[in-house]
Amino acid sequence: MKRHVQTGQARREAASPITERDVSDIAWVSDSIAPWLSSDRVEVDFSDTTLRRQALGQFMTPDWVADFMASLFVARWKTLDLLDAGAGTGALTAAVIRRLCSSRAMLESVAVSAYELDSTLIDPLRSTMDDCRRMCRRVGIGFQATVLNEDFIAAAAPIIRADLGMENFTQFDAAIVNPPYHKIHGNSTTRMQLRSSLVETSNLYTAFLALIVGLLKPGGELVAITPRSFCNGPYFRSFRADFLARMTLRRIHVFASRRAAFSADEVLQENVILHAVRARPTSADVIVSSSDGTPNSAVAERVVPYEQVVPPGHDQRFIHIPIDQEQTASATLLGALPMWLSELGLSVSTGRVVDFRVREHLRSAPDVDTAPLIYPCHFNGTYVAWPKANCRKPNAIVIDPSTRDLLVPSGIYVLVKRFTSKEERRRIVACIYDPTRIVAPLVGFENHVNYFHAKGRGLDQALARGLTAFLNSRQVDAYFRRFSGHTQVNATDLRIMKYPSRSFLERLGREANDIHQDEVDRLIGQETA
Ligand SMILES: C[S@@+](CC[C@H](N)C(=O)[O-])C[C@H]1O[C@@H](n2cnc3c(N)ncnc32)[C@H](O)[C@@H]1O
Repeated sequence: MKRHVQTGQARREAASPITERDVSDIAWVSDSIAPWLSSDRVEVDFSDTTLRRQALGQFMTPDWVADFMASLFVARWKTLDLLDAGAGTGALTAAVIRRLCSSRAMLESVAVSAYELDSTLIDPLRSTMDDCRRMCRRVGIGFQATVLNEDFIAAAAPIIRADLGMENFTQFDAAIVNPPYHKIHGNSTTRMQLRSSLVETSNLYTAFLALIVGLLKPGGELVAITPRSFCNGPYFRSFRADFLARMTLRRIHVFASRRAAFSADEVLQENVILHAVRARPTSADVIVSSSDGTPNSAVAERVVPYEQVVPPGHDQRFIHIPIDQEQTASATLLGALPMWLSELGLSVSTGRVVDFRVREHLRSAPDVDTAPLIYPCHFNGTYVAWPKANCRKPNAIVIDPSTRDLLVPSGIYVLVKRFTSKEERRRIVACIYDPTRIVAPLVGFENHVNYFHAKGRGLDQALARGLTAFLNSRQVDAYFRRFSGHTQVNATDLRIMKYPSRSFLERLGREANDIHQDEVDRLIGQETA
């Protein structure tokens, strides 16, 4: 019997797996299936395929993507212990076996551990494992598969915790994974299990990755397809810190289109494929590649220094993916800028007014007891235009003791949209709130807006204008696209950037009226030359 990660506890849980019979209509299922809900147990109608797919994060990998993923392994194994966590019907393992059988090199035997929670997929998964066995037999490679109808998190967390008498514990040579994607609720059992293993993360996909890292042997290889959000999201900071401390990135592939790879499944997340090795990070190069996400499409590859992908000195540990020359050049350029935001005496915050929380205080038109409320719809070129007639958003918020803390004193603020539409040319769209154009002692910035301020107060005119021109430049946009795959701009994203000197920004601000944005780009180039 081949070793695998099934523990005493996992076996006990396996004694009461979620079976087809249990879940056929309305069933009580564990919180790892519906981790985004607050209660530990929740009713899910499993006869509804769409609900089942959503609840289990079931987006199956197309064969051509699986083959590409399998091709990334260095694969210098004599024997291979392979982990497929969230195996679905086994597409990823099958791709690895196809690759190994076509170029078997020195490989003698393979042992697969495939975890899949959904019992309706277990028969097809077993049948894929039988196909793999046949493929291996044909070329003389030994093959064993252990199919585990279990919650991978419940099985792996105690092993990582290493506080249960671990029998049969395997460390894996390799893992291939397309993990389920879902929020994990803060009070759920899944979150507690993770926490007890020192894994602090709020999404299933990063939880899977963190646990898999712990199950890999030194030198073990991981190939994963995941949403890109972990590369810069503030919520993934501790995941990134832990992952990057234990794994060395070797390759990151990004699909140019959001619908890529999972077109049949309507996935709108931007996806990346990463290849990483369990080893302390070295300063070796990383291959960064991209393709448009259709079968047989050309893959553009670049080799970039590790420091460009994981720039040192940032406690956020953002992962940059410079897919083209412009993005690389922008990093060199912006990296050479002299100032951190705090050195300019500035901060950036997210608008404090969360509109649905203060619904009763919102007004469509200003009145004597209100303050202006600024949404992205008020952005109008360089300056905010307010109020906006025929707008679906309110223009004003009532000033009273319950809203007073949500407002800031009148002043010149530089605003940046938190969300841009995909159609918008730039991801970073900046605009100035100018109190000479909007006369009011207080102002509210809605939560879809980030605002730059000086210790909670406004900026001077020239600095604000220069900062706006800088933020709207092509270089800043290209730089931002390196580390963010989504259209959301977090205040943290703006905090980790370097900025020109105050004198440069003020000069830019004084001249920006008369110059074209191309000229701004040229001037920024000069500042770092
Ligand atoms: C994104 S799908 C990928 C399936 C397959 N690996 C592929 O690439 O086609 C994720 C799979 O994980 C399974 N899953 C979800 N939560 C799980 C858990 N806690 N433990 C084990 N499997 C889980 C889902 O049922 C689903 O089959």
